[in-house]
Amino acid sequence: MQSNSHTEPAIMTVFGAGGDLAQRKLVPALFNLFLDGWLPEQFRIVGLDRTPMDVQAFRQHLREGVDRFSRRGKAKDQDWDRFSSHLAYLVADFADQEAFSLLSDRIAACEKEWGQPADRIFYLATPPTMMELIAQQLHRAGLSDDRERVRIVFEKPFGRDLESACKLNDVLTSFFAETQIYRIDHYLGKETVQNILAFRFANALFEPIWDQRYIDHVQITVAEEVGVGHRGGYYDQAGALRDMIQNHLLQILCLVAMEPPVSFGADEIRNKKVDVLRAIRPIPTKDVMDQFAVRGQYGEGQIDGRHVPAYRHENDVSSTSNTETYAALKLFIDNWRWQNVPFYLRTGKCLPARISEVSVVFRPVPHQSFPKPALEGWETNRLVIQIQPNEGIAMCVQAKRPGLEVRLDSVAMEFCYQEVFQTPSPEAYETLLLDVLQGDATLFMRADQIEAAWSVVTPVLEAWAAKAPVGFPNYPAGSWGPEAADRLLTGDERHWLAPMADVE
Ligand code: BG6
Repeated sequence: MQSNSHTEPAIMTVFGAGGDLAQRKLVPALFNLFLDGWLPEQFRIVGLDRTPMDVQAFRQHLREGVDRFSRRGKAKDQDWDRFSSHLAYLVADFADQEAFSLLSDRIAACEKEWGQPADRIFYLATPPTMMELIAQQLHRAGLSDDRERVRIVFEKPFGRDLESACKLNDVLTSFFAETQIYRIDHYLGKETVQNILAFRFANALFEPIWDQRYIDHVQITVAEEVGVGHRGGYYDQAGALRDMIQNHLLQILCLVAMEPPVSFGADEIRNKKVDVLRAIRPIPTKDVMDQFAVRGQYGEGQIDGRHVPAYRHENDVSSTSNTETYAALKLFIDNWRWQNVPFYLRTGKCLPARISEVSVVFRPVPHQSFPKPALEGWETNRLVIQIQPNEGIAMCVQAKRPGLEVRLDSVAMEFCYQEVFQTPSPEAYETLLLDVLQGDATLFMRADQIEAAWSVVTPVLEAWAAKAPVGFPNYPAGSWGPEAADRLLTGDERHWLAPMADVE
C-alpha cells in the first residue's frame, strides 16, 4: 500500500488491549489509518492485558471490533490479514516488573529486526487507577528515557478534582517530561471542533465582531440520547460535570473564546487556551446553586418510543445515587473581549437527541426600524457551529418573507461538511492517534490546562458535595433536562435555543 506517512517506524504498546476502548475505538482507528496509508511501513502494535489468549485470539477479538465499529464497516479479509500481521499480544500483570522487562525485550527485538530505532508509544487504555503504576513501571524498566522517541498517552478521567489532578501531574512528570505526555480529550479530534479554529482564524469576516460589543451570549450544548449503558460503575463516581464539562465542554469554550494564535504551534495554541480558562471568573461558592450551576438526574421516561429506566435503576448504579446525569453552568470570562458575556454550558444523558452545537448569539440591532407586525418572526442573528450529528455551520439571519406585506423571518445560511466535501470525516481517534505518531501535541491537554479546567469546576463540585440535591430524579428521560436549567437563562431574560438539528 502506498504510504502517505512521514512518521518514523513506530511500536505502539496498548495497555488494556483486551478492553472495550481498544476494540471499539483504538484499533478501528489504527486500521483506518493503515488503509489510508498513514502508518509507517515498519510499525507494530503490542497489546498487553491480563487475559490469557494467544495472538490469533487477540487478532480475532480486534477484528470483531473493526467489523462492528469501524466507520468503513466490515474489513476485507486481505486488508485485515495485512494489518493484523502487525499485531502482537503479551499476557501481563501490570504490577509485575517482569512483564515490563519482557516488553522491553520485545521492543528491542523489533528494532533489531528493522535495523533502526523506532518511536515508542505507550497507550494506557486502562482504568485511571493504573496510570501511576504503569508510568512508574515503564520508568523503572528504562522505557521512559528517550525523550525524543518515547510518548505516553492517557485517557480521561485525569484526576477527579484539582487536588488529585495536580498530584497525578506531579507523579507523572517525575517519570516523563511534559513533552512526552499526551492527555486525550477526544472532542479535540473531532473535525468540526478543529474547524472552529479554521473558521475563526482563516476568515477576516468574523474576528472583528467576535467580542462583547457584538455578541450577547454563547450557548454550548452537548446532548446525549444514551444513558450510562454498561459504564454505571465509573459514571456513578463521576457525574456529568466531571465526565463532560471539565474536559469536552470547556475545551470547546476555549476554542470559541481564545485570542488569535501567532502560529499553529502546539504550545502557542495551548497557551491561548489556558489563558481563557484562567480568565474564567471563579464561581462564588455561595451562589453556585441555581444561579451559576444546575444539576439533574434522569428518571424513567421515553426516548423515540422506547422505555428508558431511571438512572437509579441502571446497572452498577446505587439505587439512592445522587450523581448528576445533567449539568448546566453559567460562566463569565474576565478579559477585554468577553466582559459580561455569559457562556451557558449544558450537557446531559438521556436527552431527546444526540446533538452537540455551539450557538453564538449576537446582540439585537441598535435601532429597530421595522413596524411591529413585521417583527413577529424576528430573532437576533445567531451563528451555529454544529459538531454532531450534522457537521456544519449555519448563520441565522433575517429575511423578508415573500409577499405583499413586510414580514421578517429568521433563515439559515448553511454549510454542511458532507455536502461540500463529500468525503467522510476521519474519526476523532484517527486524528489523535496520527498526531501521537507524528509527535504533534497541539490537540492534547497540557498539565496546566487540566489544572485550570479543574479550578473552574471545583467550586461547583464542592458546593454540590456539601449539599445533597433535592428532588432527584428531576427530569424524565427524553426531556431537555430539569426546569431549574431553564431558569438559569430565563433569570437573564434569555432561553435555551432549540438545537438547529431539531428545528429542521
Ligand atoms: C466520553 C464520556 O468522554 O464522551 C461519555 O465519558 C460520553 O460519557 C462520551 O458518552 C461522548 O462522546 P461522543 O463522541 O459520543 O459525543
